[in-house]
Amino acid sequence: MPSPEQPAPFSTVLRTASGAEHEAAEQSSFMSHLLGGRLGLDAYAELSGQLWFVYRALEGRAAELSRHPVVGPFIDPALFRTAALEHDLEHLRGPGWQAGLSPLPATAAYTARIEELSTDWPHGYLAHHYTRYLGDLSGGQIIRGIAERTWGFERKGAGVHFYVFEEVGNPAAFKRDYRARLDTAGLAMDEVERRRVVDECRRAFTLNGAVFADLDIRYPLSA
Ligand code: HEM
Repeated sequence: MPSPEQPAPFSTVLRTASGAEHEAAEQSSFMSHLLGGRLGLDAYAELSGQLWFVYRALEGRAAELSRHPVVGPFIDPALFRTAALEHDLEHLRGPGWQAGLSPLPATAAYTARIEELSTDWPHGYLAHHYTRYLGDLSGGQIIRGIAERTWGFERKGAGVHFYVFEEVGNPAAFKRDYRARLDTAGLAMDEVERRRVVDECRRAFTLNGAVFADLDIRYPLSA
């Protein structure tokens, strides 16, 4: 049990502080429809397209961020999703997949925030790194199973590469190690900075929720 002088491990703080936002994202209309197998393939393809913009922003400055003393240890090519999304999009939308694909307003706001932080405030960027990659390694695996069943993708094949971390041998062990890295990162920050990162994590969830809301407007129930 941590003493008053010893703050709770930063990984625990992040998970606990974003619990309500996590629940809201899970229960959002778009995610509920997806989890219930009620969405059409077009909606899933659009989600993958929007995620492509997000991961391009998350991974676009990886080389610079990998040299940052606190954020550097998190930058791991085994996590990179841009290429996997491109494979999926080629399958879902065809070879000219980029034509006609544009960020929804909420996606544009989300990517702008990630881009801003990756240059101006790397600790804030870390909140986004955590929110996406640890989520993909967790609930993402549930989404993969549902996508395979709903749209008949080959197991871990074309269409769901995004959810398959080929280079992460053991996701549970990886997540444990990631949380240990978060705890170390938390020790490198003062309390004010930790709180700012926690707030940014909540904001990351909210930005994801806004993308789902935009998708929900576009695909209210297409199946
Ligand atoms: C459809 C919806 C979702 C389901 C069913 C789901 C499910 C889960 C589950 C079961 C875990 C716990 C895994 C574990 O402890 O190993 C988890 C963790 C997590 N999820 Fe989700 N999730 C969903 C949506 C999201 C979204 C939209 C995000 C953010 C964009 C997200 C971010 C996270 C994060 C960051 C964690 C790690 C928490 C931690 O241990 O620190 N999830 N999710």
